[in-house]
Amino acid sequence: MSTSSSSFISGLWRITQWDMNPEQVAGHISACVDLGIDTFDVADIYGDYQCESMVGAALKSNPALKSRIKLISKCGIALVSWARPEHRVKHYNTSHNHIIASVENSLNCLGIERLHQLLIHRPDPLMDADEISEAFVKLKRAGKVAEFGVSNFLPHQFNLLQSRLDEPLRTNQIEISLLHLGSLFDGTLNQCQRMNVTPQAWSPLAGGRLANQSEETPLGRALTRIGQEYGATREQIAIAWLLRHPARISSVLGSGKIQRISELVDAKKFVLDRQSWFDLLEAAQGCPIP
Ligand SMILES: NC(=O)c1ccc[n+]([C@@H]2O[C@H](COP(=O)([O-])OP(=O)(O)OC[C@H]3O[C@@H](n4cnc5c(N)ncnc54)[C@H](OP(=O)(O)O)[C@@H]3O)[C@@H](O)[C@H]2O)c1
Repeated sequence: MSTSSSSFISGLWRITQWDMNPEQVAGHISACVDLGIDTFDVADIYGDYQCESMVGAALKSNPALKSRIKLISKCGIALVSWARPEHRVKHYNTSHNHIIASVENSLNCLGIERLHQLLIHRPDPLMDADEISEAFVKLKRAGKVAEFGVSNFLPHQFNLLQSRLDEPLRTNQIEISLLHLGSLFDGTLNQCQRMNVTPQAWSPLAGGRLANQSEETPLGRALTRIGQEYGATREQIAIAWLLRHPARISSVLGSGKIQRISELVDAKKFVLDRQSWFDLLEAAQGCPIP
């Protein structure tokens, strides 16, 4: 069974689309904390490199929030952007110097002293695990990052990096939902369980597609039917399906609407029985299990 970590994280990837001023972003963060979500997910590249500064502005408008929240950030993807004129080609960069510089920049933009977690955003074919290890040790010693993890890693990539680290990777943030089932069968969730790593599910509602799944599809019908049986919304059932997995998945919720987040947190009340879980899996796969 996995260690710590709550069942929900608030993802701020879409923040630049929310049309909120810093005080409103601070209000959103504060409302999440009131719902029991104290961990927030960002990345250096989100919002074309603007997301972390927006969160920083929000925290500046309400500095008391800083001590109530934990921030996860990521590095390793280099976008072609007006904000990074030196990038000619989209690429990955997990070099020692890039990791250190990226974290320093994240801390500066966010206006905080330390990240709760730093994740390597995607597996880099040029990843040198020894270099990453050296950067992690420096960041930890300097008190700039408390914990480390990865994102979108397959088990062999996770194992390679872990083999060079003195401390355990704490998470693998991966795409998991009823519309994205790969990690159930490719060994990723098995590895999380074996190594007591808490998986974080990004796009747990498939970016909203699960909320809007047509009744014309087997999955849309199954979500509605099982929702009626449990007295839950379809979105709550989609989250309850993740919560039922023994890897103790944390869902990274991407909504900018606090009412929706509140409803999804309530999904904890619905513990799906085994047959309902498989009913949804079969509907999602579009065919019976073997
Ligand atoms: N590690 C990675 O590679 C990676 C990749 C992508 C994302 N992420 C992280 O994962 C987080 C979540 O991703 P996501 O935004 O795709 O998650 P999601 O929770 O699956 O989707 C959220 C989107 O669905 C919409 N939505 C529509 N109807 C909804 C309903 N009834 N309830 C809730 N949401 C509804 C939301 O709109 P409203 O805002 O209008 O509610 C929002 O645009 C991101 O913020 C980011 O932190 C990580």
